[in-house]
Amino acid sequence: MKILVCGGAGFIGSAFIKNYLKNNPTHKIKNLDSLTIGSNLDNLKEIKNNSNYEFIKDDIKNQEVIEKITKDVDVVVNFAAESHVDRSIANPQPFIETNILGTYSILEAIRKHDKQFIHISTDEIYGDAHGKSSFDEDSQINPSNPYAATKAAADHLVASYHRTYGINCITTRCTNNFGPNQFPEKLIPKTIIRSIKDLKVPLYGDGQQIRSWIYVYDHVQAIESLISKGKSGQVYNITAYEEITNKSIVEKILKILEKSNDMVEYVGDRPGHDKRYSIDCSKIERDVGWKPTFSFDSALENTIQWYLDNQDWWEPLVDETTLHPQPWTLNWK
Ligand SMILES: NC(=O)c1ccc[n+]([C@@H]2O[C@H](COP(=O)([O-])OP(=O)(O)OC[C@H]3O[C@@H](n4cnc5c(N)ncnc54)[C@H](O)[C@@H]3O)[C@@H](O)[C@H]2O)c1
Repeated sequence: MKILVCGGAGFIGSAFIKNYLKNNPTHKIKNLDSLTIGSNLDNLKEIKNNSNYEFIKDDIKNQEVIEKITKDVDVVVNFAAESHVDRSIANPQPFIETNILGTYSILEAIRKHDKQFIHISTDEIYGDAHGKSSFDEDSQINPSNPYAATKAAADHLVASYHRTYGINCITTRCTNNFGPNQFPEKLIPKTIIRSIKDLKVPLYGDGQQIRSWIYVYDHVQAIESLISKGKSGQVYNITAYEEITNKSIVEKILKILEKSNDMVEYVGDRPGHDKRYSIDCSKIERDVGWKPTFSFDSALENTIQWYLDNQDWWEPLVDETTLHPQPWTLNWK
């Protein structure tokens, strides 16, 4: 099997590549990434000399290149995206370009060469689940912020290409991920790093926002299972643990790092902030037999230990922007 992974130098894409090549050592992966925010080729240092792995620096919007590579592979898995909600609030334009036009570029290549497409989306496209039951794959799409809206637009494009042109595709909608190699601006790494540095830890609003989480290595294993066992044209929700408030997550991290809860600093809330995300993932268990294998507490401990042991990975990425308490207020281009 030959796979084109787009966005494989980022957090989840790099975990997918390492996990996939470990499980399938004779398969081949090409990783195309434009090396923008969140990317880091260091995430892949263990496999950079593997003869079944090749890195290509390019943009998913470069249709000519995407078409050429797609012709030569069996599957395209797209992780490439502008992925940070706070940045999308400060400046939506790159989100519209990469998340919508980039997906369109890949879809055209898939249509032309008749290959399988795994489109990595997010549970954020369903919007706020506050006061509602968990969303399943047929629930209404109701995004609240520019990031989620661009991901939702891409989901609609993928569904339309399946219905209109009959392309072979699967869409995944996963909850919040955490684990090693996550860019410092996201909640869990930011909390860990600020705590290690004895800086106040920001909580947006009242900290009562509810999320469910998944360890990144459970997520990438789910994607791998879907490549062989998922049904074309289907959407699969992916999640793992009980729902938990942001405040509880932050307090768990502080406890593991033996820091006081007094380090928490309540800051103004993110505009349009969804109070709760909640999805039902019984379909992937039923159709594919996938289940998470890591417990939340052990995965969180592994993650904290990784950030303690790998300060040389995150220290060069850390500045006033990545650790900012209210990043949407910054003037991002
Ligand atoms: N992180 C989460 O909790 C989460 C949850 C659900 C879904 N997702 C989705 O998973 C995917 C990966 O998320 P992540 O957290 O690893 O993000 P990330 O920001 O860490 O990685 C994104 C990667 O895409 C690359 N990229 C961006 N624009 C590109 C372009 N135009 N051409 C080529 N490469 C480009 C970046 O350089 C980076 O390496 C995204 O589609 C995101 O929407 C993430």
